Amino acid sequence: MSVYMGVFSVRTTYLKVYRASRIQTYSSRFRRLHSHTGPDTQRPSFGISFDIDGVLIRGGKAIGGSPQALRRLYGDDGTLKIPYIFLTNGGGVPESKRASELSELLGVQISPLQVVQGHSPFRDLVSRFGNDLIVAVGKGEPAKVMLEYGFKNVLSIDEYASFFKGIDPLSRYKNWAFKQNNEIMKNMNELDFSYNVNSDAVKGTFIVSDPVDWGRDIQVLCDILSCGGLPGKEKGHQPALYFASDDLLYQAEFPAERLGMGAFRIALENIFNSVNGIPLQYTSYGKPNPSVFKNAESVLMQVASTLNGNPDHAGGRTEKENKFRTIYMIGDNPAVDIKGATKAGYPWFSILIRTGVFKGKDNHPEYPADMVVENVEEAVEYILKKEAF
Ligand code: G3P
Ligand code: MG
Repeated sequence: MSVYMGVFSVRTTYLKVYRASRIQTYSSRFRRLHSHTGPDTQRPSFGISFDIDGVLIRGGKAIGGSPQALRRLYGDDGTLKIPYIFLTNGGGVPESKRASELSELLGVQISPLQVVQGHSPFRDLVSRFGNDLIVAVGKGEPAKVMLEYGFKNVLSIDEYASFFKGIDPLSRYKNWAFKQNNEIMKNMNELDFSYNVNSDAVKGTFIVSDPVDWGRDIQVLCDILSCGGLPGKEKGHQPALYFASDDLLYQAEFPAERLGMGAFRIALENIFNSVNGIPLQYTSYGKPNPSVFKNAESVLMQVASTLNGNPDHAGGRTEKENKFRTIYMIGDNPAVDIKGATKAGYPWFSILIRTGVFKGKDNHPEYPADMVVENVEEAVEYILKKEAF
């Protein structure tokens, strides 16, 4: 059963301090990058939230006039005029690294504060698992992501599996895995890792980004989850399992949609249930969960507070005055981006585009958007006209 948790539902004092300091660091760096003097009254009363895959990027390339579209949100001097964020279910690298990658690809200066990824809410679980042994799964640098969030004892599933000889009986047929394993062993020797994986149980498993080797990952996760966090030992209580998102499909380079983390979840869940005869327990984050949109609104307010060189909450605005009249969600996936924005309600306004998962002529029948256009450039053009900005 999927248990959708509020993004900020698990908080402790420590975590508040951690988040506050992170936001402050990003905010002040962001302010330095984007500040210019100008009347506070020019701050727009709207914000924009961009989905990434199928909207701005496909297969590592910019699409739909995305660099030009984003450029319009900055002034001639390169300072940000209109508050916007990236709201993606993807991930696999820390927000700071994603911000530099996006800046490079899209040709504008992007702050880590503007990047909200599927796994970003995992940082709120540091209070629960910060000192426990946890395993991070997915493409990119899943363990690095978790370490940056503050988890202290993290192994990637590649590293973890390398401790158990024969855990993947098919590894000898995987040429890439053989090469990779030597690299992992080298890194492991350099790691300051004091756990004994044969007696110290894994307490949490985190699917950070799209898993790479589904067969091996399902096998190892079933081992961890069936045996109380100790593969090869007797059956035991299931450790916690978190998914950064639940996208069945997403749009990459190939013309037809690709299987996403939701498809992996279905595979793992069905296999686990069949093998164990009890239902897998897990929590999925990401869009269309309304708490993601609530969080996006507050991140956008943080971004807005850095415009015009204003310190947070400057200009004597009350919290109510700080709120947006409209937040535009530009997305390509009706069941994720549009459903989420619609469920979130006021002040969200959804714009569906045709460069990704959705390719229909008219609006989507099940999850109709407030507006449908061809691509992200048209979407931004529509917003700026509507807002007369
Ligand atoms: O793996 C990424 C995918 O599931 C969705 O990314 O940017 O379309 O939310 P995005
Ligand atoms: Mg998308």
